[in-house]
Amino acid sequence: MSRSAPALRPYLADDAPLLAAIFAASIMDLTGDDYSEAQQEAWAAAADDEAAFGKKLAGQLTLIATLQGAPVGFASLRGADHIDMLYVHPSAVGQGVGAALCDALEKIASARGTKTLKVDVSDTALEFFRKRGYVAQQRNSVTIGDEWLANTTMQKTLDGVATPGGHA
Ligand code: ACO
Repeated sequence: MSRSAPALRPYLADDAPLLAAIFAASIMDLTGDDYSEAQQEAWAAAADDEAAFGKKLAGQLTLIATLQGAPVGFASLRGADHIDMLYVHPSAVGQGVGAALCDALEKIASARGTKTLKVDVSDTALEFFRKRGYVAQQRNSVTIGDEWLANTTMQKTLDGVATPGGHA
């Protein structure tokens, strides 16, 4: 299926319900090989309170990717040096949406003087970030609701030189 390249725009308050839906669909449809259904449900429930979810998105630098005008994914930068969220709708994966969002956050962070960008990566997104030059630093277990979920802290040097040789 050939579609146009994603466009990016900043988050607006009215976007919260749509991004909450993208967040939940992305988790429930795309992460099942790496997390149990109970873990997926606990993770996706973080957007159940749309007002709180929207407040979090508004408090970070949040970008929305659109295809033909329709939002299909989003990513956020927490502070100057931490990618907090990256979620693409299942109907839009594999079309460069995640890459376009990450490219933009890396450029913004770099322009702000950030030398090392960090991200706590789901097992599902590990290869995506590794391909982009992120290197695994440590494994983590985080509690969400009643569930424990594993992720990996990764980092990338933003001066154009990726740190080689990482493993997860
Ligand atoms: N495994 C291996 N390679 C992958 C994967 C994967 N799961 N996903 C993407 N890639 C590769 C693509 O093949 C492509 O490679 P290429 O440049 O050699 O062609 C490259 O990564 C870029 O792919 P995109 O099409 O830009 O990625 P996409 O738009 O599909 O988004 C993402 C990837 C964000 C991981 C998406 O699958 C997703 O939303 N997953 C579920 C939610 C999730 O786990 N999000 C991350 C949580 S951690 C956090 O938020 C920081």
